[in-house]
Amino acid sequence: MNPNPEIKVKFVDLGAQYKILKDEIIKKFDEISSKGAYILTDELKKFEKNFADYCKVKYAIGVGNGTDALFLSLRALGIRQGDEVITAPNSFIATAGAIVAAGAKPVFVDVKDDYNINPDLIKQAITTKTKAIIPVHLTGRPADMDTILIIARKHGLYVIEDAAQAIGARYKGKRVGSLGSTGCFSLHPLKNLHVHGDGGIITTNNKELYEKLLKLRNHGLKNRDECDFWGYNSRLDSIQAAIGNIKLEYLDDWNKRHKEIAAMYRKNLSDVVTVPVDKEFEEPVYHNFMIQGDKRDELQKYLLERGIETKIHYPIPIHLQEAASSLGYKERDFLVCEAQAKRILSLPIYPELTDGQVNMVIKAIKSFYSNKNIKMSKK
Ligand SMILES: Cc1ncc(COP(=O)(O)O)c(C=O)c1O
Repeated sequence: MNPNPEIKVKFVDLGAQYKILKDEIIKKFDEISSKGAYILTDELKKFEKNFADYCKVKYAIGVGNGTDALFLSLRALGIRQGDEVITAPNSFIATAGAIVAAGAKPVFVDVKDDYNINPDLIKQAITTKTKAIIPVHLTGRPADMDTILIIARKHGLYVIEDAAQAIGARYKGKRVGSLGSTGCFSLHPLKNLHVHGDGGIITTNNKELYEKLLKLRNHGLKNRDECDFWGYNSRLDSIQAAIGNIKLEYLDDWNKRHKEIAAMYRKNLSDVVTVPVDKEFEEPVYHNFMIQGDKRDELQKYLLERGIETKIHYPIPIHLQEAASSLGYKERDFLVCEAQAKRILSLPIYPELTDGQVNMVIKAIKSFYSNKNIKMSKK
């Protein structure tokens, strides 16, 4: 294998987006820097209002990152040591990490073919200690929220949406982040709407939670000199908020391009690999386009040799991570998630990707499977 193939299709190309927005961003950076207005300013308030309007919720609270959005939501809802929180084992490690950081225990439930938590299995994971469910809208596809909310209501549980990968996705016409007690978003550089570094935002319709979260992210301070309770320092900087304001204007167009690319992949690859197919209740944003195929590792290597970068989200499920060993899980506990982890591959998908590049990826995948004469097994 050529160890340094010329990359023709990058997995992400953050520089390409910056090039388009450079003038707007530099102008704003200069304006904020000249004023020296960096923290908890009107620029942040403006982003919070714009983001809340976009998600059709009453309130939004800018925080340091998506992990803090989850952690602070858990704290605001009073979840603490001794409590259990149900979530999916195939998410990014941060979902479970935030539960552990809040002092609680993550309890995993297997997923379905759309990579989202299987609501039919939630009931059997509920104990007297369960306080909340965190469905993850993985790859930008919404989880089955109605069913999850009915279970939560019946058992008196909070629902915190991990919408880190799904900014702009809709469930039955409603934006994700508007359905649970809170919606937690990441603005990390790899997300559909990203700032220039770490960033996160929480959405809610609950005024009491909103007011608590405003204080929690700022040391528990009521004002400059008075502190109501112990809190944290997790604020979204003004420069990042300003970049968020600029980019929010483009988000729907970008998400539209994600969907176009997803449609191209789906149309041309469904005969050789398993592709995601939208369910009737969802409008995904395809943060990731995940295929499943036989000989996945060979395929990834083959694509890289032809200058095409791909990634695996995620090769080791959370319950099998060393960090999770004290939780007592073992291999074969979550068969669907574990089987998917061996077969999934995320293809490049971002607004600046050209049709020519998408076709290059399609052609290479088709050629891999025809060369190898691999018979697809639909697992
Ligand atoms: C599903 C999910 N949850 C949580 C996070 C954590 O977000 P952040 O990296 O901004 O802390 C991420 C992203 O990294 C994610 O993909």
